[in-house]
Amino acid sequence: MMNLSRRKFVQTAATSAIAANALLSKAGASDSTASKTVKVAAIGCGGRSNRDIPNFIKACDMLGLKAEFVALADAFEDKAFEQADKYEIDRSRCIVGWDSYQKVAESDAEFVMLITPPVFRPKHLETLVEAGKHVLMQKPVAVDAPGCRKVIEAGERAKKKGLAILAGTQRRHTVGYMENAAKIENGAIGEILGGTVSWNGTVPWIWERQKGWSDADYLARNWLNWYQMSGDHLGEQHVHNIDVANWYLGRTPQSAIGFGGRARRETGNNYDFFSLDLDYGNGVHIHSQCRQISGTYPRVGEFFRGTKGEVQGGGKLKGVDVSIPKFDVMDKDGNVQELLDWIQSARSGNPINEARQIAESTATAIMGRYAAYTGKFVRFSDLMANPKSEFYDLKVSIQPEHFEKGIVALPPENEVPVPGDGKEIRRRV
Ligand SMILES: NC(=O)c1ccc[n+]([C@@H]2O[C@H](COP(=O)([O-])OP(=O)(O)OC[C@H]3O[C@@H](n4cnc5c(N)ncnc54)[C@H](O)[C@@H]3O)[C@@H](O)[C@H]2O)c1
Repeated sequence: MMNLSRRKFVQTAATSAIAANALLSKAGASDSTASKTVKVAAIGCGGRSNRDIPNFIKACDMLGLKAEFVALADAFEDKAFEQADKYEIDRSRCIVGWDSYQKVAESDAEFVMLITPPVFRPKHLETLVEAGKHVLMQKPVAVDAPGCRKVIEAGERAKKKGLAILAGTQRRHTVGYMENAAKIENGAIGEILGGTVSWNGTVPWIWERQKGWSDADYLARNWLNWYQMSGDHLGEQHVHNIDVANWYLGRTPQSAIGFGGRARRETGNNYDFFSLDLDYGNGVHIHSQCRQISGTYPRVGEFFRGTKGEVQGGGKLKGVDVSIPKFDVMDKDGNVQELLDWIQSARSGNPINEARQIAESTATAIMGRYAAYTGKFVRFSDLMANPKSEFYDLKVSIQPEHFEKGIVALPPENEVPVPGDGKEIRRRV
């Protein structure tokens, strides 16, 4: 179940605006007790860092602070150098290698952005929390159930240490979504009866294998297309919409059944499409649908119908009038606002902690993936609370330590799980 009730969320969001103003006046004053330099590191210098790095700099600027990148870490030198050059950070600050997260943990960075493939997230988060860093961990935060539970444990340790943990689910920091969540909490659409969440689009990118790449290199560069690295696109991309369902309903689903398949993908071993029935109990079902096939009808969003109205994600809400707190966001772009919230919350001593909510949304996606891959009825408790379940301790075959020890084994390419008989039959496609 979600830890943060919607009511508590509304309060937190409202008070964070107050904390923001307090911090602003502190940072803006010539008070030498508030350090204006924010030491930060990024681990993972790929596509998403093109947003998180400049947005972090922008957020600091907006707060009257100065971002100082003490480290840019990546498994590969070319990636780290590319970002260093782009943001005029001295190349000497680049850290390269599979163990670069450990070196960042030893650095004097106060804030660390984890922007690597999801399979690495639980281990890297655990290490950084141990080292006392405030962490942005991009969604999704794991690819199997043990990983989700590890993230929740690390999140609890972070709370005890006063560390701020942000999840990269920017809808939670986007004003339209925040207002709708508050309205739903206050009864604007009554009880949610059902809905649909979708991410139907195209494969974001493919890295074809190049001469000289090891299996580890290929997996890390083309990670998006391997379920052991990404959690499949159901977890990697569609988790955003699933997270909104869990947020608006104020709970996780109890179980999933579903199906999926692979029609046109060219590399790796992800499916192309999934269709799931997420059962939230009390007769409430959410249809979760995602597809990555070019040339097909695109739809990304969320819709929920309640006893008194209906809502489109962070958009139009038809229902009864209710009053909600004013959300005094500084930036309408949730991708920036989330970083403002992260920095402000850490520095004001009231740290945000999104570890449990994103671990549970990630686990929801993993539950759906197992349901589709095996054809079984899968309970949320099978992943999170029932050690006797076959899914509870099931780990993907590729683990972060394999990269560090140089023992990565490439799974068979273009072979996917086939549901139906309880055994792992694989089919070449
Ligand atoms: N919030 C959002 O809307 C959003 C958008 C895009 C991506 N993301 C998430 O951000 C994460 C990264 O995605 P991306 O699109 O930037 O991928 P990417 O492949 O472009 O970048 C990942 C980088 O991590 C590096 N890397 C891989 N393994 C590493 C390791 N063990 N240690 C250090 N570096 C390592 C890669 O070399 C690469 O440069 C993913 O979890 C993705 O789901 C979130």
